[in-house]
Amino acid sequence: MHPDGERVLFTREQIQSRVAGMGAEISRDYRDKDLLIIGILKGAVIFMSDLVRNIKVPLCFDFMAISSYGASTKSSGVVRILKDLDRPIENRHALIVEDIVDTGLTLNYLVDNLKARGPASLRVCTLLDKPASRIVPVEINYNGFIVPNEFIVGYGLDYDGRYRNFPYIMVLNRKVYERGK
Ligand code: PRP
Repeated sequence: MHPDGERVLFTREQIQSRVAGMGAEISRDYRDKDLLIIGILKGAVIFMSDLVRNIKVPLCFDFMAISSYGASTKSSGVVRILKDLDRPIENRHALIVEDIVDTGLTLNYLVDNLKARGPASLRVCTLLDKPASRIVPVEINYNGFIVPNEFIVGYGLDYDGRYRNFPYIMVLNRKVYERGK
């Protein structure tokens, strides 16, 4: 493990095995359906790229980028679309792919926004669920792991833009984020 980490939460092997299982489940559920995966930039990119290679039905994917108006206004639930989907999702079977559901505000907004576009179905897949910090309830259809309320990085998750490339997920040592204070 990198020295900025306090402990490894999920190893590369644990993640890969869980992602394979999720891919198999999604493959079964969407066997006869025209699946459109919607990845939420940037955190979901790593998970999504592994997940889609474990899904055995032909699928399409697209991306959205979302921004909250900053930490102080996050609890307001106001988010802004920085990059929208390239195509309409009307009559498509859409599956949102996230790396983590934290307060639930991002997902709550996304689900409302995408439902209004008339998809044939809309489901949610996240690698990680942190229920301890939930502010609004959200329905998750596929979840990889429940995580404790700690600062975690790796496998798409960042601190100040870094650590997304790590193939494992670790709890960040607090001295790393206290350094800049
Ligand atoms: C993270 C994560 C989710 C969101 C979850 O994204 O990827 O999109 O926060 O948090 P919430 O449940 O409290 O809304 P972030 O805004 O950190 O952007 P990033 O994916 O580019 O790192």
